[in-house]
Amino acid sequence: MTEVWPMGTHRNDVGEIVVGEVSVAELAHSYGTPLYVYDETTLRSAMRGWQDALSSRLPHSRAVYAGKAFLCTAIAEIVAEEGLGLDCVSDGELFVGLNAGVPPHLLSLHGNNKGRNELEMALEAKIGKIIVDNFNEIDLLEELTAEHDEPMTVLLRLNPGVDVHTHRKISTGVADSKFGLPISDGQAERAVAKLVNIPGVRLAGYHAHVGSQLFDTDAHTGAISDMLAFAAKMRVSYGVELEIFSPGGGFGISYLDQDTPLDPAHWIETIASTIEAGCAENGLPLPMVIIEPGRAIAGPAGIAVYTLGARKQLDGIRTYVSVDGGMADNIRPALYDARYTAEIANRDGSGGPHETVTIAGKYCESGDLLIEDIDLPVSHEGDLLAIPAAGAYCLAMASNYNMSLKPAVALVNNGSTRLIRRRESFADLIRLDITRAHQE
Ligand code: LLP
Repeated sequence: MTEVWPMGTHRNDVGEIVVGEVSVAELAHSYGTPLYVYDETTLRSAMRGWQDALSSRLPHSRAVYAGKAFLCTAIAEIVAEEGLGLDCVSDGELFVGLNAGVPPHLLSLHGNNKGRNELEMALEAKIGKIIVDNFNEIDLLEELTAEHDEPMTVLLRLNPGVDVHTHRKISTGVADSKFGLPISDGQAERAVAKLVNIPGVRLAGYHAHVGSQLFDTDAHTGAISDMLAFAAKMRVSYGVELEIFSPGGGFGISYLDQDTPLDPAHWIETIASTIEAGCAENGLPLPMVIIEPGRAIAGPAGIAVYTLGARKQLDGIRTYVSVDGGMADNIRPALYDARYTAEIANRDGSGGPHETVTIAGKYCESGDLLIEDIDLPVSHEGDLLAIPAAGAYCLAMASNYNMSLKPAVALVNNGSTRLIRRRESFADLIRLDITRAHQE
């Protein structure tokens, strides 16, 4: 099957899609649908691919997985086994990482509004670094680090104000952004001036994340050059040595066959040579480089599996085929107009008649459409539909809209299957509710 599917995905003798040498029909039978399936080989090889590309080009470097793309204990354990860091953006993500045994020094904490509790948790756990985003956070850190002996390593998140070629809602390094401090109006420099005077923090360098699902390197190269010029200025003005430098993540993946993402080697070569050139130009020694891929690690490894249900034909308009999931497990089409492809997973209908249909979710919202106008073999109620490239930012943004149950997650690996998250139950839906009986 094509590149949008996990490595080695194929159809077996009876035409079923097989992922990680396990039949999707068998998985659906065992765990029900909607179901998310991650292929461990694809996941691990993406982690290794990024880390190897990086360390072969820049020996002093580390890939950290951006856990916001999809995190659960099993994924965090794999991250730790592969020696990647885990990039967190909340105390919840820190908790999952710590609980799964990710070494604290490999954890980092992002966020444009970190709360007191989140910073306290990071300091208590002695995580590797905090990426400072704003002045309120600097004040909080000054107060909280006073109680700790060892200084906390921090990076300052810069807003380089670069143009980004992606959906507006996933552009983060543009001038009008809630993330980071702008270099252009002097706020970033003011933050440096404050940070160097706080005994409990050690400003080790700078970070920027320019956007997500990027297919070209322009925003990264522009940001890196501006950030390094800024770093050189800060070195002269405040004596801050550039030890760590992070141009974030954002590396795009294929959702559709026609997508043409850059491979890790291309990204890393461009990032590394831009950093080398910028350091040479500004008289800076080469820093440790950290990249933060999220989607490029989790995305290609995961597929979503649904069962087809109701069909509605509107003459001259369209045919809706509904699935048993939708925007509660994948909000991306509704939120970003994200486009996906799909195939019938329980049989190979490719030789038979085809039709153009719209795959609708089951939730009470007209915009709950997963795929508009897709050409598929004529399907029947009960057929399984598999959507590839569903490993990132689907379950991570899942909700219980309409009191739906969040799907189970299975990890497949070369013929074996492990359930890594069970499907929610009705009991889960009310587990936090406080009834009168509780209060009496
Ligand atoms: N580092 C930072 C600081 C970030 O803010 C992000 C993503 C990443 C790394 C990872 O970016 P990635 O490599 O996955 O592109 N929900 C959206 C994506 C939001 C990304 C937010 N930040 C989506 O579904 O497309």
